[in-house]
Amino acid sequence: MTDKKILEITIKKEIDCSKDVAFWNYWDHEHLDIIHSGFAEPHILYEDRNFMYRIDAVKIPFIPFIKISTPMFMVQHDDNTLYTYTVQLGIVSRNKITINEIDKQKSEIIMNYKFLLKYWQLPFKNLLRKLFTKWNERIWNEDYPVKIRRQKILNMNFKDFIGLPMKRSEREFKGENYKLVLPVKRYKNSSRDQHPLSFKKEKK
Ligand SMILES: [Fe+2]
Repeated sequence: MTDKKILEITIKKEIDCSKDVAFWNYWDHEHLDIIHSGFAEPHILYEDRNFMYRIDAVKIPFIPFIKISTPMFMVQHDDNTLYTYTVQLGIVSRNKITINEIDKQKSEIIMNYKFLLKYWQLPFKNLLRKLFTKWNERIWNEDYPVKIRRQKILNMNFKDFIGLPMKRSEREFKGENYKLVLPVKRYKNSSRDQHPLSFKKEKK
């Protein structure tokens, strides 16, 4: 029996990028406030090879000068599954993201969201579904060119922190797909690592 307090939303998409590029987009935390208009000041407090805990300052729609702190836990559960857990405006949610390879550079992304609503929020279930679906579409559209562009430059032998090969003749896809390695590397003094409680601020 389905729990009436749970708002469940499943969204399926397809995109012309490899599975690892699609997952990279979730693990690349440096694009958040650059690409997504709703994000400000994402701070990573702790991360390791398959998980990360972050605090985001999320802007409230229509009142952008008010920001609320939102915790986010992410874990790469297995090769095809990523979970995120968060609390937004007091609503606890989990997102199960399944990414399946359709082709070497074509992926299917299934986002299955579950929001645990309080009794007083139940009359707004349909409204929340509409608002969330709209929000998800906006985020998808903002991330879409990020994934496509990354696949394109990786196919030209782009290397993180190095760039494209100097010779044009070497900017050709050699058939070897990019392999995601977690955590995704950042510059030493990245703004993602400046929170006073970040594990990187601990004295060694
Ligand atoms: Fe994104």
